[in-house]
Amino acid sequence: MILGIETSCDDTCAAVVGPDGRVRSSVVASQGLLHERYGGVVPEIASRRHLEVAGPVIQDALERAGAALDEVETVAVTQGPGLIGALLIGLSTAKAIAAARRLPLVPVDHLHAHVVASTLGDAPIEPPFLCLVASGGHTFLARVDDPASHLTLGRTLDDSAGEAFDKGARMLGLPYPGGPQIDRLAREGDAQAFGFPRSRPGGGLDFSFSGVKTALLYVTRDLGEVEATSRRADLAASYQRAIVEALLARAREALEGSGLRRLALGGGVAANSELRRRAGELCEELECDLWAPEAALCTDNAAMIAGAARFLEPLEYPRYLDLDAFARAA
Ligand code: KG4
Ligand code: ZN
Repeated sequence: MILGIETSCDDTCAAVVGPDGRVRSSVVASQGLLHERYGGVVPEIASRRHLEVAGPVIQDALERAGAALDEVETVAVTQGPGLIGALLIGLSTAKAIAAARRLPLVPVDHLHAHVVASTLGDAPIEPPFLCLVASGGHTFLARVDDPASHLTLGRTLDDSAGEAFDKGARMLGLPYPGGPQIDRLAREGDAQAFGFPRSRPGGGLDFSFSGVKTALLYVTRDLGEVEATSRRADLAASYQRAIVEALLARAREALEGSGLRRLALGGGVAANSELRRRAGELCEELECDLWAPEAALCTDNAAMIAGAARFLEPLEYPRYLDLDAFARAA
């Protein structure tokens, strides 16, 4: 059994995953409310909170899995990228638990974990596949031929899709994190009411979301506060559609260009209902299979960390004791 720990941003996560990829438990202690009044994550507050709740969250994950700490065979932990202070709390905790029991430890790349999250559960995806990861920190397309690694085919040149959702929501006067709020509000709106740009920079498979964000800023400014508020649902629906179509235009190109027949979604934005629906339509059209894991596996969680660790080489005690966290993508 693998105990996974994830503290790269503002959620304190622990999970227990079996060697077969069955998720025995996955606990997420969200810090959302702590950061909400600042309109975004405050790194120092996140670190302190991780320190307070890491122990109880791990305890809870073990209890829910019906497992004792002695039954854990491997400890897996997010090494990066993320907030350096937040990562260090998780990494130190994982080292302490593993070292005390002389267990092996697996350092996991947070992005790789998002990419292979669909290999968990009852109907796991099998390589080769294409994965579209869209989260608050990252947006990229990756090719997976072997679940131990992935090849990045394209990435955002500026904002992530999640940032575009969060910043757009803020312009519309919606609380943080804005993705789920826009998703909800968009259901009541007309997605064709406003025309927002679908940027496809360069000749490759990169993304750009700064243009759509600026376009929303200008539209809301031109409408004025009263009108922008009364048309909020239309704005949300049109804005969401532009982001979703920009994401799926690249997924289509990557599927057609690579000949891959399986598409997986990952990252918090993969919880978006329109993205899931439209990705389903795209795959039907291209005769591909879609893996859109349940929202709990898309947003940050430790099950994907433990899951990714199954494919990686563990470090034996004491080789992992001087391991460091990294803030930026390797
Ligand atoms: O993967 P994640 O939990 O954390 C990071 O690694 O960044 O992603 C969080 C992002 C936030 O930007 C949030 O607004 C977005 O995922 N998100 C959504 C939805 N649920 C979460 N965006 C659009 N629609 C949703 N339903
Ligand atoms: Zn993430």
